[in-house]
Amino acid sequence: MLNRKAKDIFYKFAGPLMMVNGYIYRNFRAQTEGQLKVHLGPGRANYISGWVNVDANMFTGKCDVWADLRNSLPFRSGTVDAFYSHHVIEHLPDIRFHLNEVFRCLKPGGVYRVGGPNGDSAIAKFIENDLSWFGDFPDKRESIGGKFENFIFCRCEHLTILTFTMFEEFMSDIGYKDIRLCKPVKETNYPKLFSDCLLKEYESDFEKPHTLIIEAKKPDAESTLHCAEAALPGQLDQSKD
Ligand SMILES: C[S@@+](CC[C@H](N)C(=O)[O-])C[C@H]1O[C@@H](n2cnc3c(N)ncnc32)[C@H](O)[C@@H]1O
Repeated sequence: MLNRKAKDIFYKFAGPLMMVNGYIYRNFRAQTEGQLKVHLGPGRANYISGWVNVDANMFTGKCDVWADLRNSLPFRSGTVDAFYSHHVIEHLPDIRFHLNEVFRCLKPGGVYRVGGPNGDSAIAKFIENDLSWFGDFPDKRESIGGKFENFIFCRCEHLTILTFTMFEEFMSDIGYKDIRLCKPVKETNYPKLFSDCLLKEYESDFEKPHTLIIEAKKPDAESTLHCAEAALPGQLDQSKD
């Protein structure tokens, strides 16, 4: 694992190039018709064929689009059927911005399956003092507090703690619908979209999973229309005030 300083240097120099590359891809190369499925942050081992894999790491990772996920995503608005990311968004400084970007790019009815270190499980295991639940990556720690910090922040690689209620709050504010915790984790409401992704997911504890996985949908055009129609009487009332 590259240390934080080396990564900061990489992003300092490669960041502007990735921004230009992402801009060019979005405006001149990104698919605008037909089914489009996008995998964010595959690394090397988890590259998924048939998906457009996006990553910043072009050295040890394998990707189709070289882009920095801290920026606007390299896809046109309303063109993507499905996004998938697994152990990626905890690396991003602004999760709300990221969720907004995914929402912008999704087609109406499109779905985001997103997973990362499970803050809810870690908190429960910390309270239970269950040392055995926590692993030794990236560092070996003896105490429950040390193990908890190691899991959550991963040598300062992770910038946040992921919990279901946080996702629920951010996603519902943005307009996602059907926000659902996948329990057991290897479950999906959209098997046709995500069957390739499930094959890549690794989990050893199905009671208190290490990975929090959530699926949420951008409302389809029809329900957006219904919402707009339902909102109309209220809006009219407000305008009377
Ligand atoms: C911990 S790995 C996860 C790899 C794989 N998805 C998995 O589940 O094993 C995080 C991946 O996200 C990518 N990543 C992290 N921050 C990124 C950013 N700002 N822009 C693009 N890719 C990023 C890394 O390069 C790496 O491939």
